[in-house]
Amino acid sequence: MEKFYRDSWVEIQLENIIYNIQQLKKRLNKETEIYAVVKANAYGHGDIEVARSALAAGAKRLAVATLDEAVRLRECGVEAPILVMGWVRPEHVYAAADYGITVTCYQKEWVEEVLSLSLPKPVTIHLKWDTGMGRIGIRKKEELLDILPLLKNKNFHLEGIFTHFATADEISTEHFDNQRAYFEELLHLFRANWDGEVVLHTGNSAASMRFPEKMFDYVRFGISMYGLYPSGVVKKEKPINLKPALSLHSRLIHVKKVDKGTPVSYGATYITEREEWIGTVPLGYADGIRRALQGAEVLVNGKRCEIVGRICMDQFMIRLQEQAGVGDKVTLIGTQHEETIEMDELAEKLSTINYEIACMISSRVPRIYIDKV
Ligand SMILES: Cc1ncc(COP(=O)(O)O)c(C=O)c1O
Repeated sequence: MEKFYRDSWVEIQLENIIYNIQQLKKRLNKETEIYAVVKANAYGHGDIEVARSALAAGAKRLAVATLDEAVRLRECGVEAPILVMGWVRPEHVYAAADYGITVTCYQKEWVEEVLSLSLPKPVTIHLKWDTGMGRIGIRKKEELLDILPLLKNKNFHLEGIFTHFATADEISTEHFDNQRAYFEELLHLFRANWDGEVVLHTGNSAASMRFPEKMFDYVRFGISMYGLYPSGVVKKEKPINLKPALSLHSRLIHVKKVDKGTPVSYGATYITEREEWIGTVPLGYADGIRRALQGAEVLVNGKRCEIVGRICMDQFMIRLQEQAGVGDKVTLIGTQHEETIEMDELAEKLSTINYEIACMISSRVPRIYIDKV
C-alpha cells in the first residue's frame, strides 16, 4: 500500500532480508542454492517486495504454497522459477504450464488425470517424498515405482525431488536422521529407475542453518529469511545471527488521566487501581491483534506499557508509565530506545510460534518497505 490514512503500520527492513540470505549463503556449501519461501504473502511481509529482494540477494528460486500465490508473483512480473509446494488440482496444470510454474506431484491418480489432458506444453513437476512428516508425499517404494513409468510422458517434465523435515529444529536429531536416511534410500531406487537429471531439496530454515553440509542442490529458506529463529533450540544455538525484518507500530490517538476505579473497555474487566494515564491505540483484533494479547506489553517512548482491558476490533488501551501525547509512537514489535519486543514475546504470550504471529497481522495494516529493490 503506497498511500494510506492510518496511524498504524508494519515496517519491513528489506535490507535485513538480504542480510539473512547472505549469511545463510556463507554457511552453505558452494553448490547449494536457495529457494526463498514467500508463501502466505511472504509470512505476512509482502510477497512481491520480499521476492524481489530475495532474488537480488542471491536466492535463485521462489517457493509458495498455492497456485494462486505463484500466479500473483508472475502477474507482478516476477520471472524466477516458482515452485508450488502444496496441492494443485490436475485440471489446473494448464494454468501452471502456461505461467511456467512448477507444481508438486505425489499421487498416481493425480498423474493419471494429468495424462488424460491434452496439454499444449509439459508441466514441470517436483516429486514430493514423505520421509516422515506425515503430510503429503510418496511414502512407499512401491508407490514410487508405480508412478515413475507414468512420468515418462510428454505432459511431464520431472525437474526435481523434495522432502520436508518434521523435527529439524529440535535437539534430538534422531527423526531427522531417519528422514534423511529414508530419502537416500528412495533416491537410490529412483536413480536405478530414472535416467534424467533432477534437482534435490530437503532443508527448511532449521535444517539449512544447522546442518548446511547435509543439504543438496537447494534449501527452502522460510522463517529465518525474515530474521526469526524456527524454535527456541535454534535461537539458542544461533548458527547465524539473524536480523528481524518486521516491526509493528502505531500512534496514540487519545491520552487521558483517569481516577482510581475507572473501568476500561468492553465488559469493564479492567478497573484502574489508582490515578492512571490511559492511552488508546488504533489497532485491534481486525488487524490481527488477538484479544488474548490483553496483558501483553507495548513500547511508548522506550518504556513498556501494559495492554489493559479487552482488545476491541479496531482499538485497544494501554496503561502509560507517564504522561504521553497524542501522536506518540507505540511499538508492538520492534525497538524503541534500549527496549525491544520480539515477535517471540508475543508468540509466547499466545502459546504459539513466531510463524503464526507474522502471518496473523492482517492485510488491513499497511506495510512500509525500507530499501525497496
Ligand atoms: C514444504 C516446505 N518447505 C519449506 C518451508 C519453510 O520452512 P521454514 O519457514 O521453517 O524455513 C515450509 C514451511 O512451512 C514448507 O512447508
